[in-house]
Amino acid sequence: MSQRGARITGWASALPDNVVTNHDLEKTLDTTHEWIVERTGIHSRHIGGTTASLSVESGGKAIARAGLTPADIDIVVLATTTPDRQVPATASTVQQELGIKGGAFDINAACSGFVYGLTVGNGLVATGAQHVLVIGTDTLRTITDWDDRSTAVLFADGSGSMVLSATDGPSNILGTSLTSDGSLERLLFAERGGNLQMVGKEVFRNAVGYMVGTSRDALHKAGVTIDDISLVVPHQANIRIIEAACRRLGVEMDNVAIVLDHTGNTSSASVPLAFVEAEAAGRVAPGDLILMTGFGAGMTAASAVIRWDP
Ligand code: COA
Repeated sequence: MSQRGARITGWASALPDNVVTNHDLEKTLDTTHEWIVERTGIHSRHIGGTTASLSVESGGKAIARAGLTPADIDIVVLATTTPDRQVPATASTVQQELGIKGGAFDINAACSGFVYGLTVGNGLVATGAQHVLVIGTDTLRTITDWDDRSTAVLFADGSGSMVLSATDGPSNILGTSLTSDGSLERLLFAERGGNLQMVGKEVFRNAVGYMVGTSRDALHKAGVTIDDISLVVPHQANIRIIEAACRRLGVEMDNVAIVLDHTGNTSSASVPLAFVEAEAAGRVAPGDLILMTGFGAGMTAASAVIRWDP
């Protein structure tokens, strides 16, 4: 039986122009640049745009990068925890603005959303789609209390997209692992119309365990070991979470993609944002294996092992 796999053929990101530094936050919050850098690794973040506008920008660029036009896209999968409206899905706005004729829907798996989206896209290709646009976008500023120093220093806005295209043979998404532990919902949540509430220390502790657990599971399913991985692309929440997880996995920080110093935590956007910068810096070569791993509210976690074959 012939196989129908997926390849990543396009990738791009988008950040709002407006940059907010830690020093800017010092003016309105009881905090310091030094505290934020030491506890999180974040120096500045981008704030602005809507989930649709940022998605249109990164999605449009990813389609062009793939050498395609919007008419070629069969389905738009938008991972977001901050849709512009309750109804309809923001993916429908993006579809209309990009001029795509195919299907469109949102998924919400919080900061694990993009890796969930890639997994869904891989399945859509396996069952017949030719080209799937997977977008991760969040405008977390819209659900952040800017007077709460424990969360306002962390969250920001951004978008990243990848095009998955059908290929003969096995998928380049070699193994995935998706989890959720709903018993930990209270650690990070926003009621409808409300702002994010967080028990930071507990999120930290659980995040490390779940990133490591899903990474090991995805590696096992892919039939590879951590030593085969050339680049780890983690969710960008806190440099100390990433360092702790990488220590447990046995990964050197030189092999990890980091953008959180200038993006903050952009939720669904953070993994593709980090990947796009690493690729632009020449940090991936054809044939390399990449481990993408994220965690977030829910508490969700998701990892994927991908062969880079653009
Ligand atoms: N500036 C200065 N002080 C701050 C502060 C800020 N922005 N935010 C909190 N503090 C204070 C606290 O009030 C506390 O003061 P106290 O000791 O007088 O009570 C002190 O700093 C230590 O707070 P604590 O929460 O113990 O710090 P921490 O080392 O755990 O770091 C986080 C806080 C939020 C940076 C860290 O817990 C974290 O990153 N957690 C994970 C959050 C996350 O990733 N969320 C998104 C998941 S997708």
